[in-house]
Amino acid sequence: MTRYEFLKSAGFSGAALMALLTSCVREDDKYVNALTVAPDNTTTGTATTAGTVTSVLGIITTEELNKITSTKAKIDLTSANYAKLKTVGGYMIVSNIVIALSKSNTYIAATVTCSHEPKKQMIYYNNEWYCTAHGARFSLTGAGLNGNARAGLKVYKVATDGKTLVVY
Ligand code: FES
Repeated sequence: MTRYEFLKSAGFSGAALMALLTSCVREDDKYVNALTVAPDNTTTGTATTAGTVTSVLGIITTEELNKITSTKAKIDLTSANYAKLKTVGGYMIVSNIVIALSKSNTYIAATVTCSHEPKKQMIYYNNEWYCTAHGARFSLTGAGLNGNARAGLKVYKVATDGKTLVVY
């Protein structure tokens, strides 16, 4: 039984469940063992074949990818360590950056640090950036969607050739 399944069986749901799922993350964690919970509390599907992302939108050539400098994070999508990034709706935290495969099948990235208070509790949830500390909600482009989010959120560009993902 996963932690998610255990918490659900214990009666937790919605925001309380999300808070519990993210409450045990240490600052030095390489990534969160993320689980995306859709509004109906189901997980979402996959977008992979044999370790290579094929159905993601915006894939560029390896040559184009290699031209990108000043990268903030570089990820081997063929590695099992990053399997969550091959699931639509999945996200991981790498080098203080939240990276997600959005519901529209594109990779997106934002800082894990909220602009309300400097808490590193940003996640991808319900197709928005969401802070589990006090509920700040940001659009995928970083625009604030409620009071705690009025300062906006730093978002990054992401590029992939289907095997390597670069945040810059
Ligand atoms: S620290 Fe993110 S909402 Fe308060």
